[in-house]
Amino acid sequence: MRLFDPGYVEEPFKSLCQDYPDATVYPIENFRVEWGPIFHRGRLDGSARVLLIGQDPAQNEAVVRRILVGEAGQRTQGFLAKLGIDRSYVMINTFLYSVYGNVPAKIKKSAAIADYRHRWLKALLTTQAIEAVVTLGSLANEAWQVWQATPDSQDFAIPQVPITHPTRPESASDGDPQKLREETKTMLNQWNTALQTLHAAINHPDREQPLNLYGDSWQPGDKVAIPDIDFPPGLPAWMRETDNWARRSGKNLLAKRRNITITVPKGVVPKL
Ligand code: URA
Repeated sequence: MRLFDPGYVEEPFKSLCQDYPDATVYPIENFRVEWGPIFHRGRLDGSARVLLIGQDPAQNEAVVRRILVGEAGQRTQGFLAKLGIDRSYVMINTFLYSVYGNVPAKIKKSAAIADYRHRWLKALLTTQAIEAVVTLGSLANEAWQVWQATPDSQDFAIPQVPITHPTRPESASDGDPQKLREETKTMLNQWNTALQTLHAAINHPDREQPLNLYGDSWQPGDKVAIPDIDFPPGLPAWMRETDNWARRSGKNLLAKRRNITITVPKGVVPKL
């Protein structure tokens, strides 16, 4: 049987998707507002036990309308699998729209951006029995600290574990293979420390299993496909199981903002 995510049919999530900040809050020079907001991935039905906060959606996310579904998402899915968490999670991003360029200080301090994120955090923490929060990268960690300073957050005492953003090794190594190996090792070591804290904090995993830590580099099985229950109905398997099927294309920056090219991976269509 094929499962799927029924979408934002129940309150408070229905209202959150009916009324969201637009380009008056997320400036078009800093965000790819043209691709629309992308809200979440995972359970909204009360069964989530781990809440993850990512950074911002990329091109795969713009196509499938769920967050953390590409390389970063499949690495995150593998991280959750090591904790015995296969479906009892929910994820939101720090930003609703894809970041264009660097994030200026005025955006980091934007009360309107934070207010809407806080509405989601309050909705999730109220409706799900969250046992641990995982923040991916420094912007998500800062977003959690801003939430922690609000009066609403005082109703919830949940441990937060910050981890290195899953694609930080690539962004920090700028194509240098030696640096990429070092950054990957550093990240996986940090993730191992985080896994130990989380393994102790999560009381209701989907599977009880001993903690199997990462090595110094990616190993087979470390990346895990996103389950069909996380996607709108009818999405082809290759969109869940592979990553580089969507890329921004065009000769200049404006064209790249306007175009995402989707390519079905080799082998999916047989030679006819
Ligand atoms: N995609 C997301 O939705 N969030 C991230 O942090 C990275 C990729």
